[in-house]
Amino acid sequence: MKTYAIGVIPGDGIGPEVVNQGLKVLREMMTQFEFDCNLVEYPYSGEYYLKTKELVPEHVIDEWRGLHAVYLGAIGHPDVEVGLVERSVILGLRFGLDLYINLRPIKVYAEHLCPIKDKKPEDIDFVVVRENTEGLYSQIGGHLKRGTPDEVATVTGVYTRKGVERAIRYAFELAVQQAADRARPPQVTLVDKANAIRPQEIWTRTFAEVSAEYPQVKTDHAYVDACCMWMIKNPEWFDVIVTANLFGDIITDLGAMLQGGMGIAASGNLHPGKTSMFEPIHGSAPKYAGKNVACPLGGILAVSMMLDYLGEKQASTAIEQAVGYLLASGRIPSTDAHSGLSTTEIGDMVLQTLQTQPALS
Ligand code: IPM
Ligand code: MG
Repeated sequence: MKTYAIGVIPGDGIGPEVVNQGLKVLREMMTQFEFDCNLVEYPYSGEYYLKTKELVPEHVIDEWRGLHAVYLGAIGHPDVEVGLVERSVILGLRFGLDLYINLRPIKVYAEHLCPIKDKKPEDIDFVVVRENTEGLYSQIGGHLKRGTPDEVATVTGVYTRKGVERAIRYAFELAVQQAADRARPPQVTLVDKANAIRPQEIWTRTFAEVSAEYPQVKTDHAYVDACCMWMIKNPEWFDVIVTANLFGDIITDLGAMLQGGMGIAASGNLHPGKTSMFEPIHGSAPKYAGKNVACPLGGILAVSMMLDYLGEKQASTAIEQAVGYLLASGRIPSTDAHSGLSTTEIGDMVLQTLQTQPALS
């Protein structure tokens, strides 16, 4: 039997509640599709830091490199210095494991979930390929004369040819791969701000060079401000978007709202062929923590993405179809904390659907 080594980081706030539902679904898939997972839990979080003053040690990052995947809930605690634990755990994973792709599907599972008038599920089904290890997240910068009237703060956006090219190449490969089971032709849209931030022209040039290798893929370009406009006005134009780290962060929150809310959006932080990390894109939502009201669907779909990555395609599809069915049928009426269903009830519904409606998969 295939066995996967999976690190689990429940994290802060609603993270543990959501992860519990994801693991419930994962265990069901293990039974149905006959694979095994060796789950190793890690305590790193804001809460753990407050108790122990411990962030993620280097040797643990090394240990993670030996796993097949890491499943993360959410990180962020209101009593900890802003971003400290997020940088240690989330960026520690992304940079430490060189997870250079952040894959964020934007898909509407039921028309009533989408806040844009007259947009149907078939209109909103695209993927954002967010470069995940460079750009304005490079942690290069700092303060001079901090707290004085002469204070200076700098931050450097880093775009390496290698980093840009591997993100763009991944986007083209993905577009080609997806086109196989879709009616529409593959398209990759480059999103940047190379008019105002001229060094981002490295994206323009690299995109042109890589696209020449994929004559079957249509190409398009949008500045990031215009991309926000088109995502609302004509989301059906997009197939695969490739973009720099910060822009990808921003437009995928917008994308989550197109899908019906932060509660449903999932992501994969990938280094193809190596240990990769899967998480819902929402944060720790401290105000909902411990109340059993958070929507676990983003966390559950992150499990689906993880299984797809691990090669358990049938299990991955089964989960996505079960979620899609529950949303489309209205049995789960919304993907926020006010659906009238608890976190555990939603997890149970997904589980039951997977158990009783195998025809769906
Ligand atoms: C995300 C989050 C993170 C990011 C934060 C928590 C560091 O917003 O995964 O989108 O900015 O990438
Ligand atoms: Mg974000």
